[in-house]
Formats: sequence, structure tokens, C-alpha cells
Amino acid sequence: MSNPSLLILAGDGIGPEVMAEVKKIIDWFGDRRGLVFEVEEGLVGGAAHDAHGVPLTDETMARAQAVDAVLLGAVGGPAYDDLDFSVKPERGLLRLRKEMDLFANLRPAQCFDALADFSSLKREVVAGLDIMIVRELTSGIYFGEPRGIFEEGGERVGLNTQRYTESEIARVARAAFELAMKRDKRLCSMEKANVMESGILWREVVNEVAADYPEVEVSHMYADNGGMQLVRAPRQFDVIVTDNLFGDLLSDVAAMLTGSLGMLPSASLGAPMANGRPRALYEPVHGSAPDIAGQGKANPIACILSFAMALRYSFDAGAEAGRLERAVEKVLADGVRTPDLMQAEGEAPASTSEMGDAIVAALEASL
Ligand SMILES: NC(=O)c1ccc[n+]([C@@H]2O[C@H](COP(=O)([O-])OP(=O)(O)OC[C@H]3O[C@@H](n4cnc5c(N)ncnc54)[C@H](O)[C@@H]3O)[C@@H](O)[C@H]2O)c1
Repeated sequence: MSNPSLLILAGDGIGPEVMAEVKKIIDWFGDRRGLVFEVEEGLVGGAAHDAHGVPLTDETMARAQAVDAVLLGAVGGPAYDDLDFSVKPERGLLRLRKEMDLFANLRPAQCFDALADFSSLKREVVAGLDIMIVRELTSGIYFGEPRGIFEEGGERVGLNTQRYTESEIARVARAAFELAMKRDKRLCSMEKANVMESGILWREVVNEVAADYPEVEVSHMYADNGGMQLVRAPRQFDVIVTDNLFGDLLSDVAAMLTGSLGMLPSASLGAPMANGRPRALYEPVHGSAPDIAGQGKANPIACILSFAMALRYSFDAGAEAGRLERAVEKVLADGVRTPDLMQAEGEAPASTSEMGDAIVAALEASL
């Protein structure tokens, strides 16, 4: 069987800097664990615009559809702010998400013990936190028609439409149940079935899909209460599944329970390909951070943990993903800190590449 394939699109700003550290880790898994990837690289965002006049070429798009997983750094930056909307760097990322039909966005919120004091919540509320929010990404109110701003009765009206078909709900629910099976077998679905018909259908369809997963304990919560519970007692949750709008809000709330933007990975998954693997794009939550780009200050952990998600969800290498996550945990416990993770003045910060090297050393020590 041929080696699994990865397309790396490092992008702009700190994207190439954090991706350089991921490449060290990919090499380590190839050399030391026999987990060899066929790695291709391409351009996205401003970098693609500079070279080709578009934020993503058709050829790169075709490569993204052909590989087993795409790993993306970040796109955008002030140099591209004045470009026409149609060729802005973000359009490259949006095209990838749309054409790969990545309908399930996975945002883990995990609190590493060494960073528990970074949270705005008390240590005892967040220590040990490990939840996964699955947000529907390609439908709902951000896409529903009709939409627009129009005149009615002598005044302007803004309109957006929340619309979900049962198949759209079922496929994201199924993705969430599959995740729950790999985790703690607990799933909480969030909507507003008390005031929205789309919420009533959402709840019905989640219950129908649940019949195929009798081992998973299912609960339902109104999304407003969900937001409250996430800051009151977040550890009550394991997997949360919700729609596009509520997921946008709730995943940001959950992410910030854990501290720095430089720590947050994500995955966006689509339907299974012919080889059974889901179409998949893995990327850090953060952007291209132009304020620190080129200075060796970027924290590569969000991108490294995104690769750990790829190991787990695209390559069935959950044990190796765990090894990588534990290596990150060890390095943090040892006090290695990029500037974004420092609290006290006078500590010596680690550079982006020193953080990557420390994680590789911790991987080596894990053998
Ligand atoms: N998915 C993406 O590629 C994506 C996401 C968000 C923003 N953007 C783009 O990135 C550019 C900058 O946007 P922004 O400043 O609003 O968001 P940002 O995430 O790039 O940066 C926000 C703040 O967090 C810091 N930060 C971000 N990642 C970090 C890391 N890994 N290590 C240490 N510090 C980190 C930055 O220095 C900055 O102070 C814009 O062009 C925006 O459109 C891209």
C-alpha cells in the first residue's frame, strides 16, 4: 500500500514559520515511527496571489481533492487588505472549504495543566478540561436564502434565513457520534428548539441518528443555556454538536476557556472519500499574526496539535496522536514558553523553532 499523502499549504505571515515546526514533527514520525507521508507543498492566500494572481489555483485545488489530508497554516495580512474581494487571501481558504464540502468543523478545547492559570476562569473549573465542539459549517443562517437588505413599509429590513435539511443535520450529527465513540461516548446537542422550527427538526434528526449509536449517552440543551454552562461548569461536556451560527459563538467561548490563541487546533471534515478517509483540512484557529511575523515569536503548538488531529482523524493513528499531545504537555510542564504563554517578566522566552525542537526532543524521550 502506498504511503498516506499530505498537502501542506503554509500560507502567509506566521503560517510558514509554524509549519516549519510541523515539518520537523512529520519527519520525526517518518524516521522514528515508520509513519511516512508523501508530502506535497503548495501556495494559498497572499502567497498564491503574489505568484499567480489568485489566492488558490485550480491546480492546487485539484491537489487538495486528491490527497488524504490538507494541512494549512494561515492566510492574510495587511499587504493584501486593499485587494478586490474576489482575490483576497481568505477566498482561497473559503474555496477549499466549499469545494471539499467540509461540513463538520471540529474545535477541541483542551486545558493543559501547565496553562490552567491562563484561563479567565478559576483553575479548578478548567483544569483537565477536554471537550470537542462539532459545528455545522456549510449550511444554516450564513448560507440560507432568501437574504438581503430591502425596503418594506417605508423602512429597511435585513433578512437572513436559517434553513437546514434533514440530510444536512444527519451528516454532521453522524460525524459527532463517530467522534463520541472514539472519546467518552457522551454527546450534547445544542439548538433552540423552544423558539425555532429548525431547532425542532435538529433535535428530531439527532435523536434518529442516535438510534445507530446506542452506546452514546445523548443529551439536548438550548444553546443559550449551553453558553452559560460552558463558562459555569465546562467539564460536564465531552462532545457538543451544534449548528453553524451557535457553533461559531460557542466554539469561540470554549476556546478561550483554555488561554492562548496560539494553542488552538481545528479540523474540518467532509464526506468519506473512496478510500474511506474523510475529506479533511487541518489548521490552527489563529490567523497570520502580522504583528509578530518574521520574528521567531509565533507559538507553533496550534499547528502542531492540528497535525495531531490529522493523525487521529485521517490516519487512524490515535496512539501516535496521543504521543504527540503528551509531548506538547510535557514541554509545557517543563516550562518551555513562547512569548504568548509567558506571565512573569524576566522569564526567557523560547523561539518558534526552539519550541518545535523541544517537542521533537520530548517525542524522542517518549520512545
Ligand atoms: N484561518 C486563517 O487563516 C485566518 C484566521 C483569522 C485571521 N486571519 C487573517 O490573519 C490576519 C491577522 O488577523 P488578526 O490579527 O485578527 O488575527 P490573528 O489570529 O492573526 O492574531 C491575533 C493576535 O493573536 C496573536 N497570535 C495569533 N496566533 C499566534 C501564535 N501562533 N502565536 C503567538 N501569538 C499569536 C497575534 O500576534 C495577534 O496579536 C488578517 O489578515 C486576517 O484576515 C486568517
